Amino acid sequence: MKGVILAGGLGKRLYPLTRVSNKHLLPVYNKPMVYYPIQTLVDAGLAEILIVTGGNHAGEFLRLLGSGKEFGLKHINYTYQDGEGGIADALKLAEHFADNDKIVVILGDNIIEKDIKKPIEEFRKQPKGAKIILKKVEDPERFGVAELKGNRIISIEEKPKKPKSNYAVTGIYMYDSKVFEIIKTLKPSRRGELEITDVNNAYLKKRELTYSMLDGWWTDSGTFDSLLRANMLVAKQAVIASECEAKPKQERSNLK
Ligand code: G1P
Repeated sequence: MKGVILAGGLGKRLYPLTRVSNKHLLPVYNKPMVYYPIQTLVDAGLAEILIVTGGNHAGEFLRLLGSGKEFGLKHINYTYQDGEGGIADALKLAEHFADNDKIVVILGDNIIEKDIKKPIEEFRKQPKGAKIILKKVEDPERFGVAELKGNRIISIEEKPKKPKSNYAVTGIYMYDSKVFEIIKTLKPSRRGELEITDVNNAYLKKRELTYSMLDGWWTDSGTFDSLLRANMLVAKQAVIASECEAKPKQERSNLK
């Protein structure tokens, strides 16, 4: 299985922060945003990683990340998305890299507390199709939203005005090699983009979409409020980790 990080787009929701920078290079506590999704994939045991970037200052990714040595990688693959065609349009560029293998895709502004080893292991065993990861949230209208019946997803809507549930579709997706055929059939949405929700709905229609619930916190960081939230969550986690290191073992449990 290979990993793909989607770090394109113009990050307009963060203007003027992104006018002279790339969203995924902005700081989240003590690291550039893109470090977190890379670490998520590396922690899940993926050694082959592609970064799809785009927009402004794409060359800075290479300067920042180089060969990926800092993450214990032998090399990182890079490609460039022209324009603002949406998430599924960016993913299209991973076809050659994927080379018929299954892929784990993560949006470059998605940050999680824990790891995704378990869902990835489950997907390794899944003979075909796709798997998404859901998280219960207070503001589902900002995301793709999954409607559940028993343990099945029955619909996914992109940023619905009246969400049918509180389960947001996080920006972590697992696909078999058919995903690239599906993307070729998509039509741009009202916002003029190829939507990842349409890809997921295509798998749902074929009854090949499974899901897991994410353990631990999750946040995107593509708006002022969510970027601030990401900074606070990561900072809090770092403080807890350093306090744990400083305290003798028996005191650690009191910190949480
Ligand atoms: C995108 C997807 C949405 C998903 C979200 C997760 O939204 O379109 O379905 O829930 O990422 O971060 P965007 O943030 O690009 O508007």
